[in-house]
Amino acid sequence: MERVKTGITGLDEMLNGGIPARRHVALYGGPGSGKTSFGFEFLYKGAKMKENGVYVTLEETEEDIVENMKTTFPMFTDVNKLIDEKKLNIVKPDKLELEEVANIIEVQITENDVKRAVIDSATMIKLAFKSEIEYRQTLFEFLSLLRNLDCTSITTLEATSPMKSEIKFDIEHFVMDGIINLYNLDREDRRIRALEVFKMRGTNHSRDLVPFKVTPSGIKVYVGEKVF
Ligand SMILES: Nc1ncnc2c1ncn2[C@@H]1O[C@H](COP(=O)(O)OP(=O)(O)OP(=O)(O)O)[C@@H](O)[C@H]1O
Ligand SMILES: [Mg+2]
Repeated sequence: MERVKTGITGLDEMLNGGIPARRHVALYGGPGSGKTSFGFEFLYKGAKMKENGVYVTLEETEEDIVENMKTTFPMFTDVNKLIDEKKLNIVKPDKLELEEVANIIEVQITENDVKRAVIDSATMIKLAFKSEIEYRQTLFEFLSLLRNLDCTSITTLEATSPMKSEIKFDIEHFVMDGIINLYNLDREDRRIRALEVFKMRGTNHSRDLVPFKVTPSGIKVYVGEKVF
């Protein structure tokens, strides 16, 4: 099976080689859990492997994303070069609509040979809907648009609770091809980061909750280690 390597240390191993190509993955996490860093590294590593990417930012400005990510990952020294070469494209849509997001991705595929997309975060779009039914329908339409495109995507979604036991199932859990959960677990005197691959259609994967760190050279997932 064709796979897309995330390039994130440890994660590809958990996924038996990477995300199955042309699948659409939801990345869940609470505030500050690492969603933006995760999405950005997926695109950065892709760009380094000659797979161009587009980062569709729905909240922060393009400038803020670049500024924050260069601070988070100081060892990604060629971010600006990749942006100039259009291997890493960061776009903020004018409208908060999924149709507009699909449009941007389609244009990026045609113009910049983009193979990876990150949408950060879809929660803003979700909140704009008056009814759950309307959102459901639009999400289905959005996914069918994406399925016709030659691209693998990660969509971030804000989890309402940082607690593992309190995650409730939303519509996205059922329609997306894969789900990765990021946690900021509460320990007596600190918080620790952990992640799990909750589902990934079409591949076997680790079902462990594993610790991870955001480091200057990228995210490190400590496969085989226990979360204490
Ligand atoms: N250089 C760094 N080294 C270690 N940790 C860092 C570094 N830079 C940022 N962080 C951590 O990463 C967190 C932010 O990660 P990120 O922005 O990816 O999370 P997020 O889930 O997108 O947050 P939000 O909900 O605000 O969008 C910060 O709160 C900080 O704890
Ligand atoms: Mg973020």
